Amino acid sequence: MRKNLISIGLLSCLLWSCTSPTSTPDDDAATGATTTSSTASTAQTSGTSASAGGGAGGSNAGGSGSTSAGGGETNEGGGGGTDSATSGGTGGAGTGGAGTGGMPDEGPKNLAEKYASLFPIGAAVDSQSYMTHAALLKTHFNSVTAENEMKFESLQRNENSFTYDAADRIVNFAVTNKMKVRGHALVWHSQNPAWLFSNGSGGTVSKQTLLTRMKNHISNVVRHFRGKVYAWDVVNEAMMEDGSYRTGNLADGQKSRWHEILGESYIAEAFKAAHEADPDAKLFYNDFYNYIPAKQQGIYNMLKGLLDQGVPVHGVGLQAHLNIEPSAVTTNQAYHQNVANMEEAIELYSSLGLDVQVTELDISLYIPGVTYNQSTFYTTATFTDALKAKQAARYREFFELFRKYKSVITGVTFWGIADDNTWLSEFSSGRKDFPLLFDLNHNPKPAYDAVVGF
Ligand code: XIL
Repeated sequence: MRKNLISIGLLSCLLWSCTSPTSTPDDDAATGATTTSSTASTAQTSGTSASAGGGAGGSNAGGSGSTSAGGGETNEGGGGGTDSATSGGTGGAGTGGAGTGGMPDEGPKNLAEKYASLFPIGAAVDSQSYMTHAALLKTHFNSVTAENEMKFESLQRNENSFTYDAADRIVNFAVTNKMKVRGHALVWHSQNPAWLFSNGSGGTVSKQTLLTRMKNHISNVVRHFRGKVYAWDVVNEAMMEDGSYRTGNLADGQKSRWHEILGESYIAEAFKAAHEADPDAKLFYNDFYNYIPAKQQGIYNMLKGLLDQGVPVHGVGLQAHLNIEPSAVTTNQAYHQNVANMEEAIELYSSLGLDVQVTELDISLYIPGVTYNQSTFYTTATFTDALKAKQAARYREFFELFRKYKSVITGVTFWGIADDNTWLSEFSSGRKDFPLLFDLNHNPKPAYDAVVGF
C-alpha cells in the first residue's frame, strides 16, 4: 500500500517548481479522505514530497506540487506503463553488464568492493526488496537504509505501542550480511501518525506534551537499535528552499507541525535526545535540494548555530534526488542542480567539521520544468541507449565529485536497488522512471559502468 502512495513534494518540486506545497496525493481512493498531514496516509503524502504522483505524472500540473490527485488523474491510464516496470524487458538486455562502459577485464567485481577504500555504498530497502533483491544487495552494497520502516508512523502507529518487526527484519538481514545500517528518520513533517499532534479531543497537542512525545519516541527507537544502527537521520527536511525554516504556515503535507507547535528548538532537542539514547551513533541532519545556494546557506547557518550551542550534530545528509539534466527554467529549483553547486554544499558543511553523506541518490529521466503526459512517460522502449548513456554520464560526474571529497563523505546510499522497485515509479498516473544503476531484470546499466569505471 504505501508503496503505491508516493508522496512527493520533493518530486513535484523536482519536476516542476515547488512553490506551493502540497499535499497529498495518492493513489486511489484509498486515501482519499485523509487529510492532513499526519495521517498515515498522509504521510505518504506529504513529505518531501508529495505529489509525485500527480506531479509526476503529470504535467506540470500543479506547478506546485500538487497533489496527486490532480496530476494523477490526468495521467491515469497513462503510463501504459504500469506494468512495464515489472515485466522486464528491454532494459537489461543491451545495456547490461557486459561492458558497456568500455572497461576491460580489470573491472571491479562489485560496487561496494570498488568503493571499499572510499566510502560504504548503501541502498534503501523495503520490507520485500531486501529479500527479492537479496542477490544484488549482497553483491554490490554494504549498507542499507529502511525506506519507510523506521519512520514515526511505522514504529509508533499508536501511542506508546512500538512495532519493530518490519524494521528488525531488515536490520537482522543487514547484520547477518555484515552491512551497515543507517536509521531514517526520527523527526520529519511527513509520515507521522494522526495521534502525534492531537490532544485527543479534537485540538492540537500542547507544546510540553509534544516535546515529551518526541523525546519518548527518539529514546525508545534509538535505544532499540543501539549497536546495530550506526547513523541516524535525526531531523529530516526542516529547511525550505529559500533558507528559512519549514514552518506550520504551509499546506498540509508540506507544513511542519513540529515547528508550528514547538518552534525551531525541536531540532536541537531531537539531536540531544538521540545522543543521550546512543552516544555512539552518528547523528545527521538530512535534506534535499542542497544544490540551491539559498537553501545550502540556510542549512549551514542552522547547523553552525546548533554546533555553537554544543548540540550533538555529526553530519549532513544530502538526499540527492537528481535528474538527468538540470531544469532550463530559471525559476525552477532544479535550475541549480549541477555538480558545482553540490560541491559548494559539501564545502560549506564540511567546513563545520561535519561528515557528509549522500543519503538518497537516484537520477530521474524526467527534466524538471518540462511537461510530461502519458504519451511522453518513459517506458522500457523509450529508455533508449542514448538516454542510458546520458544518465550514465550524469552519474559519472556526480561520482567524480563524491570521490574528490572522499575525506569528508562517509557514505553514499541509493534510494532503491534496481529500476523495478523505485519510489519514482509509484505514481497513480502510471508514470515510470528508471533512476538506479540496475535495470528491471537486475542487470547493470551503463550507469553502473560509469560509477565503477574509474
Ligand atoms: C519516500 C519513500 O521512498 C516512499 O515509499 C514513501 O511513500 C514516501 O517517502 N525523502 C525522504 C524519504 O527523506 O523518506 C522519502 O521516501 C523520499 C524523499
